[in-house]
Amino acid sequence: MRIAVIGSGYVGLVSAACFAEIGHDVIAVDNDAAKITMLEHGEVPIHEQYLPELLKRHLGRGIRFSMSNTEAIQDAEAVFITVGTPPSATGEADLSFVEAVSSEIASAVEGGKVIVEKSTVPVRTCEWLRKSLLLNGARPGSFSVASNPEFLREGTAVTDFLYPDRILVGADDEISAGTLQAIYDPLTSGKYYQQPGVVPAPGVPPARARIIMTNAKSAELIKHASNAFLAMKISFVNAVANIAECVGADISQVCAGMGADSRIGPGFLNAGLGYGGSCFPKDVQAFQAVAKHCGYEFGLLSEVMRINAEQRQRFLRKVRSALWTLRGKRLAVLGLAFKGDTDDIRESPAVEVIEALLQDGAKVCVYDPAATARAQAVLPANGVEYASDPYEAAAGSDALLILTEWKEFATLDLEQLRNLLKYPFVIDGRNLYEPHQMAEAGLIYFSIGRGVGVPKNMASLVSRRGDEIQAYTSLLDPPSVAQAATVA
Ligand code: UGA
Repeated sequence: MRIAVIGSGYVGLVSAACFAEIGHDVIAVDNDAAKITMLEHGEVPIHEQYLPELLKRHLGRGIRFSMSNTEAIQDAEAVFITVGTPPSATGEADLSFVEAVSSEIASAVEGGKVIVEKSTVPVRTCEWLRKSLLLNGARPGSFSVASNPEFLREGTAVTDFLYPDRILVGADDEISAGTLQAIYDPLTSGKYYQQPGVVPAPGVPPARARIIMTNAKSAELIKHASNAFLAMKISFVNAVANIAECVGADISQVCAGMGADSRIGPGFLNAGLGYGGSCFPKDVQAFQAVAKHCGYEFGLLSEVMRINAEQRQRFLRKVRSALWTLRGKRLAVLGLAFKGDTDDIRESPAVEVIEALLQDGAKVCVYDPAATARAQAVLPANGVEYASDPYEAAAGSDALLILTEWKEFATLDLEQLRNLLKYPFVIDGRNLYEPHQMAEAGLIYFSIGRGVGVPKNMASLVSRRGDEIQAYTSLLDPPSVAQAATVA
């Protein structure tokens, strides 16, 4: 099928490449000339597994790029709108990009084209889109509008697309329902999975993908409600982590126990610095704004956001109580991206923590496998150094902070780390290690919702005051490895 994708950002680019991969003829548009030139030369502007391979495989064959919406939609049977929906000052989704696209494409929607909203949008956007197309000159009956929300996670977006938990289609008429069913047929029939050389499945290869058909409003609501629910799960577990820390329980054990209940499930139960990224923070806010429009005060979501913001502050308090004062201290920081496997720093808890540390007068030496260039553009030049690996960051630093859950941060050479750090402090916002393992390596280890790992010979340096564990760098002896003790 001939498909136009309007907006070559994260969702648009991944969708365009995956549509080409399952056999469609795709033209992807963006109004950023530099981005289109890059893409036409086979360069990929974002860090995403399998995306470079897919673009290489299909460029000039199943996928082309353009700067003209009209050119793209002329021959297309389906037009996917994947432009940004950033938050406005009131927290509502700003739909001006969606509206601008609809007015631009109105004159070219002839012959029963299906216009599909794929960006994350509030419920009723399809309705507005329909009205806007008509207002801008599209003939009634010459098009239909549908919703097909994406559930792509950055870092695993390609496999999330090709091996989805579900494909969601919100269609109010048979033409759009049939068109979208045909587009996803290679996945829902399982034909794609039987071909040689396909992108490998992340787990056991499925026989076929599941498709859920709803009306447009339900599909729009499913997307917002799913993201808000996942954010709630994270905030809930972070709140429980704070209780676990206070009473001497271990949040990892608590979550393993909770997640074993099939009604709860083990996913999205990792305690840490809270959620970030371009989706959850804005979607929770936008969903609350939708509720408000309906006259419903969705107070639960305010609490989800409050706990999320508080989680960063708690971490900062932990750093301060480990190091006493921060002015003039040098801190090694691992991680800039909002999560592992991506170079995206939008709403990154890591960036927020670094900014607060700089405000306290600390200097930081940062390492991230992919997000350094993006962070350099937003972090101040003063007080921030960039290392080329974790050990360079650690060398001579007063403490090491882990802020992003990159896999490589979970397998560090602890002995080398211990020898490089000036003081043996590791403060982990992502729970990548076991406290006793760090203590055995001679490190004083703070994490989220678990006891502090303390080497036996350093037990006197760590004390509990209220619900805060305190340690003082200025009292520490030169490094020596000793047996572990855990202060809960
Ligand atoms: C999220 C959803 O997971 C996707 O299904 C959705 O399509 C996407 O938003 C979107 O609406 O476009 P993404 O923002 O890429 O995807 O990232 P997630 O993997 O969901 O992680 C979000 C944040 O939650 C990250 O900061 C991560 O570190 C944090 N997180 C995640 C936790 O703190 N704990 C967890 O257990 C899981």
